[in-house]
Parts: sequence; structure tokens; C-alpha cells
Amino acid sequence: MTFDCQDKTLLDDWLTAGPSSRVEHATARTPYTTRLLGTEIALWRDAAGQVHGRAGAAPLLVLEAYGYLWVCPSGQPRKALFAFPEFSQDGRRIVDCDGIGVSVSGLRMVENFLDMGHFPYVHASYLGEVPQTEVAKYDVSVDESADEIWATNCRFYQPRTSKAATTGLEVQYAYRVMQPMSAMLYKTAFPRPGEMDAIGLFVQPHDEDHITAYCLLSYFDDTSTETDLIAFQHTIFGQDKPILESQVPKRMPLQLGAEMPTRCDAMSVAYRRWLSTRGTSYGTVR
Ligand SMILES: [Fe+2]
Repeated sequence: MTFDCQDKTLLDDWLTAGPSSRVEHATARTPYTTRLLGTEIALWRDAAGQVHGRAGAAPLLVLEAYGYLWVCPSGQPRKALFAFPEFSQDGRRIVDCDGIGVSVSGLRMVENFLDMGHFPYVHASYLGEVPQTEVAKYDVSVDESADEIWATNCRFYQPRTSKAATTGLEVQYAYRVMQPMSAMLYKTAFPRPGEMDAIGLFVQPHDEDHITAYCLLSYFDDTSTETDLIAFQHTIFGQDKPILESQVPKRMPLQLGAEMPTRCDAMSVAYRRWLSTRGTSYGTVR
């Protein structure tokens, strides 16, 4: 095995290796190199536009989707990459915010992304505000056919939900976990009633404690500049980074009862149970 990882749930899945722009000028002789699951991998585009990869001398199975590079480390994907229909829906703007390096397990990163409870404290005056700290009850379900978790009917009062927002509003949310290290957040698209903006979080695990967390927006927003949209997301991620990096342990404990008094929300419980059930171990406390 080329990769320093025993976890079949990651080895047989599609893991991101960053935005497609990384291989814009990469060739077989001068490839883009990056670390994935503890191993240096090389990626490049051939003259016909096809992306290739290798880990050491071994060829890698790579695909391009949603403006991102995806690698199946074992070369035997258990299923197709998750669907992201909002990526190609008319009227939406796709904005790639690129990534931020975080010294933490990818599972911790995703769990933090799913947690509304930290908004008023970590993202004060952006995504929440004391004293409106209560997380209202929401619904959690597992889509067995797609093997994905959904949290729906989530709502939260936000002083400034996005770059386009000018006043505080109650925002409707839905969360979706597609892979152990990929999740999506859907939130009220204020310029387009009835529609939801989508924010994708794609985590590249460099190793068990070091990741790059990439963020891709699919928004109904005709007014904000691309720079403003990216800066807003980087502000939010920048607020999360020191919190995540100070978590002890950096890896996710999956034993029943671990940390539950401080992280007792339904989505977190469902995510941990889903990881346990499918046998995800990379980035966990073992
Ligand atoms: Fe956060």
C-alpha cells in the first residue's frame, strides 16, 4: 500500500487534492506535489487536458469535478463522487475560496463546520450574537441510498450572514455530510427567495493531524465582488482556526460518551455515530 493509512473508508473514497487551478501549469516533468494521507503525491495535466497522478511510482486514479481535483487512493472507489447539482444550476455564482491550513484532524474540522452552537461565541457579530445563543431543535436523518447525513430545518439568528447581508436575520440552514471529510451547508439566499446558497467544505487530510480545508461557494449574489465573498469566508475560517488548533486531542474521540457534555447537539452525535458505523478511523483517537 502506497498510503500510510489503514482506513478503507478513506482509501476507497474520493479525497480532494485542491482546486483544479493547482495543475494549471503542471506537467508530467514538473508536476504539482502535495501530501495526502501522509504520502507525497504528484498531479499534472497532459496536453489533451486530462489530469493524471502518481504516488511514488504508482499511478493514481484522479478525477476533476466541481473545479476540484479528487483522488481515490486505493484506485477502487466504492462509489461515485457525491452529487453537487447547485454547482451547475443557472443563476448561481461559483466562487472558489481556496484553502486554509489547519493543524487538526479533518473530522474535527467537519464537526466544527456542522456546529451552530459556536456561532455567537466564535463568529460574534457575523454568524451569531450573545444573548441569542440557543440552537433551536432541528431534524437529522441519514440518506441510506446516498450514504449521507442531513440536518434540516435548522435556523439561527445572524447579525450578518454574508457579505450581501446588511441587517440581522433569522437564517434557515441545512447541513449535509457527503463523506467523512466533505460537507455542505445550505443557507437562505436572501436575494432569491425560496432558494438556498451552498457552501462546500472539502478537507484534504495531509496526515491525521494536518489538513487543508477548502471552501467553494455556489451563491445567488449579483452584487458582492469575488474578493469580498472570499474575504468573508476567510474571516470566518480564520476565526475557527485557532479554536480548532487548540482542541485537545487533535483527533476525534469516537467512544460513546466522549466529550458529549460539551458537544451535545444532534448533528454532532449523528456524525460521530455515522463515522463509527462505517468504520472511519483515520483522524480518530484509537
Ligand atoms: Fe465556525
